[in-house]
Amino acid sequence: MESLAERFAGQLRAGDVITFSGEVGAGKTTFARALIRAMSSAALEVTSPTFTLMQSYDVTLKGNIPAALWHLDLYRLKHRDEAEALGLRELWPHIVLIEWPDIIESLLPEERLKILFDFGVTDDTRTLYFYGNEAWRNRLEKII
Ligand SMILES: Nc1ncnc2c1ncn2[C@@H]1O[C@H](COP(=O)(O)OP(=O)(O)OP(=O)(O)O)[C@@H](O)[C@H]1O
Ligand SMILES: [Mg+2]
Repeated sequence: MESLAERFAGQLRAGDVITFSGEVGAGKTTFARALIRAMSSAALEVTSPTFTLMQSYDVTLKGNIPAALWHLDLYRLKHRDEAEALGLRELWPHIVLIEWPDIIESLLPEERLKILFDFGVTDDTRTLYFYGNEAWRNRLEKII
């Protein structure tokens, strides 16, 4: 999971919106944490924003480009109105990782990438499915 996150991090750029779906414990936060650490510091504390809903990080992209990354966990959101109050539209120019995105599905940019996390054949493995447009396919082909 961590090595995939490291390779994936090298592909990210401002404007990327990525949703993380899958059951509790499927590895969404683990992947987000590895991704954020790969783009900042390996020792950085990255907790699940289950209660704060959103958390921002200053990250560094390939080529030493600074960017802002937002990590959202919308598990606790019950109504779309609450999501609208988060000011989501202002986040889209940055890098945005969203756990439990279902409630805001209709508010998401069209060209988002969806990652579905599933349990693997053993306790310590996971399977990730990626759904995105042609541009995402081209970028992901470089890291597989
Ligand atoms: N290969 C693996 N990849 C990711 N997590 C793994 C793996 N093997 C074991 N785990 C364990 O599975 C758990 C995944 O928890 P994590 O918090 O990442 O899930 P989550 O999908 O974010 O859940 P939630 O829906 O509650 O936010 C962790 O305890 C982690 O150590
Ligand atoms: Mg989580």
